[in-house]
Amino acid sequence: MHEHAQDLRILIYYISLMLLLPLGLLFWTATADEETRGGIIETERLGVNLIAFADSVRPVSFSQDVQPIFNSRCVFCHGPNSIVAGGAPNGLLLDTYDNVIFGSNFLPVLVPGEPENSTIMRMLENGTMPAQGEKLPDDQIALVRNWIAQGAPDN
Ligand code: HEC
Repeated sequence: MHEHAQDLRILIYYISLMLLLPLGLLFWTATADEETRGGIIETERLGVNLIAFADSVRPVSFSQDVQPIFNSRCVFCHGPNSIVAGGAPNGLLLDTYDNVIFGSNFLPVLVPGEPENSTIMRMLENGTMPAQGEKLPDDQIALVRNWIAQGAPDN
């Protein structure tokens, strides 16, 4: 009985904290002067940068994140059942990890650890590839870039 009363008191304490904190913050931002407001905006920017940073260090999975992008947007040309006359353009198959790493008849299309030196990144970023349909959305391009930056592992 006694313990329950204690639990209840702690619960009420937490609930009031949770209500007071956002209210306090709201009040503070509403009444803050320009300088302080600038500080808040800076803090928000820092938050956005931190999220982008967190995304770039989150391990990207080839099989879960990257291959599905290639499957939906690239493999109908760069695959064994290519719609392109003569088969996958320049022999580039993007249907398995080994084929992606092997690259085309002419060149590897990526350098593990170096997205800035990878043909595939240049083509995704300037929208040359996919040759059909919309440019890949930024978050998908970022996944491929981060996977290459992380050494293009078979994971
Ligand atoms: C509609 C068909 C089509 C689709 C879809 C397509 N490609 Fe291509 N891709 C081509 C053709 C055609 C070429 C050859 C272009 C050339 O040689 O000028 C090519 C060439 C490339 C090359 C250069 C290969 C080399 O070394 O010559 C890369 C890298 C590439 N594609 C990546 C991709 C990626 C990644 C996707 C999906 C996001 C994709 N492509 C989607 C048709 C396609």
